[in-house]
Amino acid sequence: MTNVEHQSYLRAAARSAQLESEIVTSPGRFRVLTGDRPTGALHLGHYLGTLANRVRLQDAGVEVLLVVADYQVIADRDTVDDIPQSVLELLADYLAAGIDPDRTTVFAHSAVPALNQLLLPFLSLVSVAELHRNPTVKAEAEAAGHRALSGLLLTYPVHQAADILFCKANLVPVGRDQLPHLELTRSIARRFNQRYGAATPLFPEPEPLLSAAPLLLGLDGQKMSKSRGNAIALRDDEDRTAALLRQARTDGERQITYEPGRRPEVSNLLLLAALCSDRLPEQVAQDVGDRGASALKALVAEAVNERLRPLRRRRAELAADPKFLLDVLAAGNAVANDLADATLQQVRRLMHMEYQTVG
Ligand code: TRP
Repeated sequence: MTNVEHQSYLRAAARSAQLESEIVTSPGRFRVLTGDRPTGALHLGHYLGTLANRVRLQDAGVEVLLVVADYQVIADRDTVDDIPQSVLELLADYLAAGIDPDRTTVFAHSAVPALNQLLLPFLSLVSVAELHRNPTVKAEAEAAGHRALSGLLLTYPVHQAADILFCKANLVPVGRDQLPHLELTRSIARRFNQRYGAATPLFPEPEPLLSAAPLLLGLDGQKMSKSRGNAIALRDDEDRTAALLRQARTDGERQITYEPGRRPEVSNLLLLAALCSDRLPEQVAQDVGDRGASALKALVAEAVNERLRPLRRRRAELAADPKFLLDVLAAGNAVANDLADATLQQVRRLMHMEYQTVG
């Protein structure tokens, strides 16, 4: 991390603490936009890292919009065959986790034409060099391996700016690594406001809300991800959860201690149990004592299963009713279309591209 990035992180962390207290006193001032690519069922890392936080914001009275970012899926994949199923999985995970469709708008990129049209004026406000420098794009391009960088992948932070600005969201919950892409959204908002100079700025400059969630590793000690097969999916049943945990990587020491630096795998399991049972990892370690890794794994399975039990029960019901899930999405799409149409109309007006006759 460069010094500049570190400074921006420290600023964002300080500001986030301030924002958190403003959320408590005046939640109605905030509109949050965030979302996920529909690439499969969500896992425990998603839940503890972002999903529970969104539910918290919703329950605090903040207006939340969630984009099912289906157009982002094709930035680095050739096939769309899995998208319909993945969208249903995502919707079931959201609602099971406590996202309330009466309060939170869930919509899909592909269903909101005016949102996507914002990409054109926004693209004129960024340089190609700027896009190539974007750390998120660089990371994604590396993750995509040797494949050629698609134009959509290069420009996806601009598309993401359209996701955020179409609804004039002013708050975006992010992890530390995503600060740079939000910076680009802020630049686009600022440049648009300057160039097409309305007396009052059209777009807010959305602020990052840094999440306090600690980084969870997968069961092999690597980054938790569905494709690596090292994650516990929310939809997994209790037996599978226990089986996955039995295979988790640990070390040979019988005395269980929380030492993230020296014992990353054991400490990660302790953290997982701690987060699921609202305790400290050190306390969990004490409970296991010198009973070794298998006792630790059994205890973690218990904590995870207990925490997820109500969610999984709701999820099973929801998954059995795809029509309901699609109705929820259709209703969210309608809300998002109204917002996007209104914003695009304002954009056209400021850009002198309103050609319909008056009267
Ligand atoms: N890129 C996000 C992901 O990795 C999903 C996403 C799309 C998003 N548009 C967004 C997140 C706008 C925050 C803001 O799943």
